Amino acid sequence: MTTSNIETATSSQPEAPAAVAPADAKVAPERPYSPGLEGVIAAETAVGFVDGANGRLLYRGYPIGQLVEKGTYGRVAELLWTGEWRKSARLAPAVVPDPVLCALRELPMHTHPMDALRTAVSVWGAWRRPHWPPTVDQARELTAFAPSALAAFHRLRNGLEPVKPNQKLSLAGGFLQQLNGKDPDPADARALDAYFIVGAEHGLNASTFTCRVIISTRSDLASAICGAIGALKGPLHGGAPAEVVSQLHEIGSPENAEQWVREAIARGDKIMGFGHRVYRAYDPRAAALRKVAEGMADMAEWLDIAVKVEDVVLRVFGELKPDRVIKTNVEYYAAAVLQGVGLPPDLFPPTFALARMAGWGAHAIEQASADKLIRPDARYVGPAEMEVPSLGSR
Ligand code: ACO
Repeated sequence: MTTSNIETATSSQPEAPAAVAPADAKVAPERPYSPGLEGVIAAETAVGFVDGANGRLLYRGYPIGQLVEKGTYGRVAELLWTGEWRKSARLAPAVVPDPVLCALRELPMHTHPMDALRTAVSVWGAWRRPHWPPTVDQARELTAFAPSALAAFHRLRNGLEPVKPNQKLSLAGGFLQQLNGKDPDPADARALDAYFIVGAEHGLNASTFTCRVIISTRSDLASAICGAIGALKGPLHGGAPAEVVSQLHEIGSPENAEQWVREAIARGDKIMGFGHRVYRAYDPRAAALRKVAEGMADMAEWLDIAVKVEDVVLRVFGELKPDRVIKTNVEYYAAAVLQGVGLPPDLFPPTFALARMAGWGAHAIEQASADKLIRPDARYVGPAEMEVPSLGSR
């Protein structure tokens, strides 16, 4: 019950209480408070390094651009989990277990695919009962099963039966095959694999932090991943690429870009696919995905518009917001790749979740080895201690 509820429930209203901490409060009021935990170091990690000032992203020391050029998602996931860069490392798409398939069949057709994925992971956890501490085998199994579960849900909601994965394909290729019921074009599978690599890990973002908090209580990996998916579902975290697509549709052609961008900024709207909390330079993931998108024949026309619009947006930001470095972020070119491989926009956020499974798993394993409960303090700003008003008979 809030203070205002209490006030309306009493006949003789007490004086408004002073918003000060009680004298015996355990939290020292002078301790710094950082809204949104911005700038707070809440963990030590050897998994990934987001160097915002210089536009660098390293997974276990290796730059993201080189990992996209020389790696596969299976190899990169293994690197994140174990620290080893192995040629033989590979992740094949797994069969969806019956309990998960039964649960997916029961979901209403209008279920958001992000909710369907979270449900699938939850049922997987109930079925497999992964124990704490999380292991590389658990992370491998969960990461290999999730794309198949999401594809199965997508087919079911379209009135189609799920298909078994072709386990000779990569995880990204198997996802496309299970969505469409046929083996994918190898170039599409490779492009989606590259997207999976750039989405695999990004430091202590909100979903990864959520995952670590849950693991820190010695809860299991499936619970932690369910929580992480819940955090990623929020539009401030995982929702931008679909909006990039509708934004470019709205702009229509590069000639309209300048006026559209100036009007949007004047209204105080955010231009999707630009700006980042950490990067003050061009997002290295955007650069890597732009290269991938340039290799996709079907995307040539869309990309031509996207590149021209990007030039205009960056120039207008430079002019209107000279004190703030606002550059292209990963979501701008993620939109091109995801659209180019034929995914509908509502599958963009859960596909991001499929990619991030590797990073979540790696952070879960690392957090468990630190084995320290994450439990910050809150600064108390409520009323000082006071007598409960007597309301007469109970
Ligand atoms: N469009 C317009 N103005 C912007 C943008 C943008 N995309 N990004 C930042 N700004 C402006 C803000 O209006 C603000 O200007 P002001 O100081 O004149 O008020 C200033 O830059 C600071 O903006 P904040 O939102 O406070 O910066 P923050 O670092 O908190 O935000 C964020 C980062 C949320 C990503 C923001 O840039 C944004 O909303 N971008 C658009 C959405 C998007 O592309 N999200 C995907 C991010 S990448 C990812 O999550 C994987």
